[in-house]
Amino acid sequence: IGLKDDSLVDIDNIQIVACGTSFHAGLVGKYWFEELTGVPCNIDIASEYRYRHAVVRKNSLFITISQSGETADTLASLRLAKEQGYKHTLCICNVNGSSLVRESDFTLLTRAGAEIGVASTKAFTTQLLSLLMLTLLLAKQKQSLDEDKRAQIITSLRQLPSLCEKFLAKDQEILQLASEFADKHHCLFLGRGVMYPIALEGALKLKEISYIHSEAFAAGEMKHGPISLIEKNMLVVGVLTQPDLYEKMVSNLVEAKSRGAYIMGLTTYGNYSIEDTANFTVYVPKTDPHFATSLSVVPLQLLSYYIALERGCDIDKPRNLAKSVTVE
Ligand code: M6R
Repeated sequence: IGLKDDSLVDIDNIQIVACGTSFHAGLVGKYWFEELTGVPCNIDIASEYRYRHAVVRKNSLFITISQSGETADTLASLRLAKEQGYKHTLCICNVNGSSLVRESDFTLLTRAGAEIGVASTKAFTTQLLSLLMLTLLLAKQKQSLDEDKRAQIITSLRQLPSLCEKFLAKDQEILQLASEFADKHHCLFLGRGVMYPIALEGALKLKEISYIHSEAFAAGEMKHGPISLIEKNMLVVGVLTQPDLYEKMVSNLVEAKSRGAYIMGLTTYGNYSIEDTANFTVYVPKTDPHFATSLSVVPLQLLSYYIALERGCDIDKPRNLAKSVTVE
């Protein structure tokens, strides 16, 4: 990246700014930075950041996340951050030479390869991994993470591609569910902890490419309003791959089911008790919970893909959308 070790040690605050899918990756990053480095992290949608009067804390690192590196609001936020006097600006970006890369002090390239389809998929996965690697680097400099734990996360990181491949071989199960739900009008995604941003991403993918109205909620918020939306046979997707939040998530799904929802559970092998509640379960391989994010998003992307295919949508070029949003 180019950020010197002593500069990393001095970082006391992090501000992340991004849009859309990149914003969802940033939300996951906030959980990781605070959990593994103890450095407070704030995150804003770029179109909000640029128009609010954010307080710039001392020794702050300003991070932008963008696949294209050309998103107008993200770029404007970076320019504003420089005027505001951030100590360092870093972009996590997939396009070398893009405006964001040229104008940031430091760059972490995601190297996902060219992403042509409008819906961000592989870029998202690599944004997550880049954020985790950055978190580990900061944790090392800050000495905030036990060396064994750090080594264990790195070992799991190396296993991730083969786990993803194994999962992809089983996509027929998801195809079956997709054909049952292709004619629905509404869908809810629920998650807690780092899986809340993954639920947000699942809902964004579904609405973006299949035009089905889909929303995501932090599962604990259901009682505060959204539960009134549930009607008979509505698809509710629960993402429950975080061991510490599994039971809480199950309770939320039981509540949705008792109001008539059709439940899809997305969890890791071993959590078989979910079958008492879910009508349909997708299992992903067990891994370090940090990587359950990158693994869990794959079935959600496939679900959107197959539903869109079933509905005859133009998956690579959804209506009203452009790959790169270069105007406000
Ligand atoms: O190129 P960027 O990552 O800055 O783009 C941000 C959003 O426009 C983008 O992630 C959008 O939400 C995707 N189409 C989602 O799939």
